[in-house]
Amino acid sequence: MTARELIERLGGLAFGGDYNPEQWDEPVWAEDDELMRRARVNLATVGVFSWALMEPEEGRYDFAWLDAHLDRLHANGVAVDLATPTASPPPWFTKAHPDALPVTPDGVQLVHGSRDTYCLAAPAYRDAARRIASALAERYGRHPAVALWHVHNEYATLCWCDHAAAAFRDWLRDRHGTLDALNEAWGTAFWSQRYTSWDDVLPPRATQWHHNPGQTLDFRRFGSDLALAAYREQRDAIRAHSDRPVTTNLMLPGYQNLDLWAFGRELDFVTIDHYPDRPGLDAAADTAFGADRARSFGGGRPWLLMEQGTNTVYAERRVLPKDPGDILRHTLGHIARGSDGALFFQWRQSKAGAETWHSAIVPHAGPDSRIFREVTEVGEAVARLAEVAGSTVTAEVAVLHDADAWWASEVDGLPSPDPDYHTRLRHAHRALWDAGVVTDFAHPEHDLGRYRLVLAPALFLLSDAGAANLSRYVAEGGTLLVQHFSGAVDERMQARLGGYPAPALREALGVRVEEPRPLRRDERITLSNGAQGTLWSESMRVEDAETVASYTHGMLAGRPALTRHAFGAGHGWYLSTVLDTTDYAELVGRLLEEAGVVTEWPPGVEAVTRGGWQFLLNHGGDTVPLPQTAHDLLTGGPLTELPPHGCAVLRMP
Ligand code: GAL
Repeated sequence: MTARELIERLGGLAFGGDYNPEQWDEPVWAEDDELMRRARVNLATVGVFSWALMEPEEGRYDFAWLDAHLDRLHANGVAVDLATPTASPPPWFTKAHPDALPVTPDGVQLVHGSRDTYCLAAPAYRDAARRIASALAERYGRHPAVALWHVHNEYATLCWCDHAAAAFRDWLRDRHGTLDALNEAWGTAFWSQRYTSWDDVLPPRATQWHHNPGQTLDFRRFGSDLALAAYREQRDAIRAHSDRPVTTNLMLPGYQNLDLWAFGRELDFVTIDHYPDRPGLDAAADTAFGADRARSFGGGRPWLLMEQGTNTVYAERRVLPKDPGDILRHTLGHIARGSDGALFFQWRQSKAGAETWHSAIVPHAGPDSRIFREVTEVGEAVARLAEVAGSTVTAEVAVLHDADAWWASEVDGLPSPDPDYHTRLRHAHRALWDAGVVTDFAHPEHDLGRYRLVLAPALFLLSDAGAANLSRYVAEGGTLLVQHFSGAVDERMQARLGGYPAPALREALGVRVEEPRPLRRDERITLSNGAQGTLWSESMRVEDAETVASYTHGMLAGRPALTRHAFGAGHGWYLSTVLDTTDYAELVGRLLEEAGVVTEWPPGVEAVTRGGWQFLLNHGGDTVPLPQTAHDLLTGGPLTELPPHGCAVLRMP
C-alpha cells in the first residue's frame, strides 16, 4: 500500500493536523467543524494520546466518544488518520505493570506523569499495545472516516531494564551466534571483559568509565530493531482488520534511535515530524534537509509531513517564532520535495497540560488571529496544488547516511568529540542546498549508479560491503568525496589495520591515512589553497592520488590535506579536515562542476522539479525574471517573474 490510496481518497494533497477533541467541550467541537472547513482541512490525526479514554481500566474499552468524533469529522468531509495511543500509557498501567516501566542507564525507574513511560521489551506493554491496536482496528478498520493508520508516536524510547537485557541477549545470539563470536566482536580481551555466560551480558548500563564500544553500538542497533518489531506487531494487528495504509511518524532530523532506512522499508509510506530549530534561511535549509531525508528513506516515493509547528514550540526544542510567510514557505518546501501534503501539531492550542505553550492552528487567541488567517491561506494554496499529488522528485547528487555510522561516532573513547555526525551531515546537505542542488540521501551499500556526485561527510564506521560499493561507484564513473576519519572502523567497531580508511576505499581514493590529529576547538590549520581547516587534521600519504591542497604548517606542513584520484572511469576525493562554510562551498562547487551538475537559477532561489511541476522559493530580496512565462498553480494565472521572497509552483510545458 502507498500514499496513493490516501491521496485518491482525499482527491489531492493532505492538509490538517493532530486533533484532540477530548481536551474540549461540545461547543468547541461545533466551532472546530466550521473552522476546519474554512481552513480546508481534509485530514485529522485522532487518538494519539487518548489511551486513558479509550481503555479507562485494563481490558475495558470505551469507544463511544470516539465513534461520535469520527462520525462528526466524516460528516464534515474530514478524513481521519487514526492513531494507536501506545506512546502514552495511562496511570493504571504503571500500577498494574511496574515491571513494564522504563529504566534509565543509571537504574532509575520512570513512572507515568509525562508520556512514553514504557519499555518496548516488556511483555505486558507489548501485549497491551497489540490488544488496543487490534481493538481499534476491529472497530474502525472499515469505518468510512478512516483513511490512514498512525501507529504509536515517534518511536524512540530506549530502556535498560531486565526485560531489555533479556531481549538484548536474544538479539545478540541472533547476530553473533556464539558467545565466542560476541567476545571476539566486542574485543572483550581488553579490560578483562570476557563473557563466559550469556546471562552476564547486559545493556550498557551506568558503569565506572568508558563503555565497550561494540556493546554500545549493538545496543543502539538492538533498540532500533526492537522498535521496528513493536511497530510491525501493531501494523499486522491492524492489517488483519483493515485495508487502509499504515505508517508511523518518524521524528526528524535530530532524533537518532532508529535506523530510518529499515523503518522506510516497513512503512506503507514514510511520514515525518519536522521542527526546524533555527529561524530564517537556516529554517528553509533545514526543511529541505528533513524533506530530502524523508523522501530518501521511502525509496523516493511520495511521503507525508505529519507534523510541523505554526509558530513557537517550547524552549527545549529551540523553535523560535515563525515570521509571517514562514508557514507557507515551509509547507511548500516539504511538498516540493515529495510530501503529499502538510499537517500540523496541533489543531487547537491546549489550554492546559504539558504543551500549553506549543503553537497550533487555532491559537489561544482564537480564529481572529494572524496564525489562523495564515494557515487558512496556506490551506487554500495547498488545495490548489492537488494535481501535484503522487508525483516524484529525482536528484543527481546524494549524501551518504548510515545509522550505524552515526551511532558509532557517539561511543565513548573517540579521539575527539568534534566534529559530530549530525553537524557534518547537515553541513554537506547545506552546501548543496546553497548551491541550488536537490539532494538525495543514500546508504553506503545502496546502488549509487544514478548519482553524478556522492558526498560521504561522516562514515566513521563503514562496512566491507559499503567500502566495496563506494569503490565500485567511483570505478564506474562516479565522483565521490570522502571526508576525514571515514572508514576507520568496520561493522563490529574494530579499527581498520594498515591505515584508514577501509582497504577497498583506500584503493579508490589512492590515499592511506596514518594518524588522526584532532585540533583544539580554537585551533585552525591553513591549507596551500588558502582554505582553513578546523577541528580535525590527519597525517596521510598519497599512494597514487594527486594532492590538490596540502597543509602549510606544523608537523603536517607539506603533507596532503585534500586529494583527488582518477580511478577507473571516476574520481575519488579525500578531505582530511573540516572546512569552513565558504571554503567547503568552493570545494563542493568544484565537485559539482567536475561531475557535470548544472544549476539554472541565481543564488537564493530554491528550485525543485517534482514530476511535471517546478517549485520556486525565492529566499532573496530581488525580483527574479522567469526564462519564459508559465502557469503558476498558486495564483492560478501566468507568471513572468518571481517577486522578492515570493513562491510559485509552475506547471511545466
Ligand atoms: C512531536 C510530537 C507531538 C508534540 C510535538 C511538539 O514530536 O509527536 O506530540 O509533542 O512534537 O513539537
